[in-house]
Amino acid sequence: MAKKLWGGRFTKPIDPDFETFSRSIHYDVVLAEYDVLHSILHVRALHRANLLDNSESSNLLEALQALMLEIKDGKFSPDPDEEDIHSAVQNMLEKRIGKLALKLHTLRSRNDQVAFDVKLYAFRSALELWEALTKLVSSYFELTKKYKDAPFIGYTHTQRAQIILFSDHCKAYANMFDRDRERIEDYLKHVKVRIGAGALAGSSIPHSAYTEAIRIQDPDDALKIRVAENSLDHVADRDFVIELLSIASIMQMHLSRFAEDMVLYSTAEFDYVDLPEPFCTGSSLMPHKKNADLMELLRGQTGNVYGNLLSLLVTMKGLPLTYCRDMQLDKEPLFRTVDLLLDEMDLVARMVPDIRLKKDVIAKALSDEHLYGVEIAEFLVQQGSAFKDAHDIVGKLVKYSEENVVKIKDIPADKLVEFHPNLTQDALKSIMTPEYAVKQKKSVKR
Ligand code: ARG
Repeated sequence: MAKKLWGGRFTKPIDPDFETFSRSIHYDVVLAEYDVLHSILHVRALHRANLLDNSESSNLLEALQALMLEIKDGKFSPDPDEEDIHSAVQNMLEKRIGKLALKLHTLRSRNDQVAFDVKLYAFRSALELWEALTKLVSSYFELTKKYKDAPFIGYTHTQRAQIILFSDHCKAYANMFDRDRERIEDYLKHVKVRIGAGALAGSSIPHSAYTEAIRIQDPDDALKIRVAENSLDHVADRDFVIELLSIASIMQMHLSRFAEDMVLYSTAEFDYVDLPEPFCTGSSLMPHKKNADLMELLRGQTGNVYGNLLSLLVTMKGLPLTYCRDMQLDKEPLFRTVDLLLDEMDLVARMVPDIRLKKDVIAKALSDEHLYGVEIAEFLVQQGSAFKDAHDIVGKLVKYSEENVVKIKDIPADKLVEFHPNLTQDALKSIMTPEYAVKQKKSVKR
């Protein structure tokens, strides 16, 4: 059994099954570098507060810095019997430098450490998510370059609606991910990593000792570390996890909408796009199959991402102030969501530029005359009709064409004028083209 950071008042050993049940080392090990950073700041503050002398401080700092290097080199592997990462770092130091390590935890609590560590993890992860979003946005722009002026079919209610540009369809996804990026920028602006709350009430270490420690350790204020102001709130707050999970859920929702479009558009029924083979799979029985599994997994993972957000919202609901052990359960939903989204965005960013638009199939779909209803109505408006009347006339025209199984373009001239005196075959021919339909949309800045 690894040494605990507590135990003086206990006379009986911990139940081994409970010990296993309570452990978090198998997942909070990813916080190692942040935990060591907390220790470095704390040693500097203790030194400043005259609770460590010069040599104690420099020996502790040296050991901590060595540990930090090992962690960054991937050489840190804590004993799996440790309770959590905070105990693991403490015990490892004790093994290396002996009794001096016992001074590290002076007036400090894991409640302060864990809030600091998780916040720094969230802050760093937000930066990584921002970078991944940036790559994702560019991947859509890369695709649009290949199909700059290609017309496409726009849908509402999953029914054919109007002609659009494929590049605008791609840019709609880019816009969504761009908004996600802005949400992350706002998050990075207001999340502050804090230190110095003690267990909940603060400690006798002067505020200025921590301020000075932060100034030495992070002179450029890159990590935006601040000394705790309301220590109770600091140890009890997990809003920053919930907020990042909320942003992540919106990102996942965007990914799932893209995924669903790709699943639909790659079916034989739509057949508008050909998804790159490296991101599809086959069937063990049906040799002809090419399945959009990446897109389906993306769509499916939405359950996990929303579930992670909901799990923490429920865990935090009604928790009395301040720290409660329930809060240990904030980490897995957070880590899993961040890892998943980074993987997903990397895969999607690599797939998107190689999506092939099936222009021939789309050309056939673009000959569907229903797609030009608005253009015909607008033409009648230009001829002086009220839009309401024009709408009605085109509705009747569509009905006539369906009932008489005749294309609108082929309705004889003498019949056409019955709908509207200015309706001629020539006019319809020039209006009912994808190029005209797209060019007519002047309200949109491209
Ligand atoms: N492993 C704990 C967590 O992640 C660390 C804090 C424990 N604090 C305590 N007082 N037991 O939340």
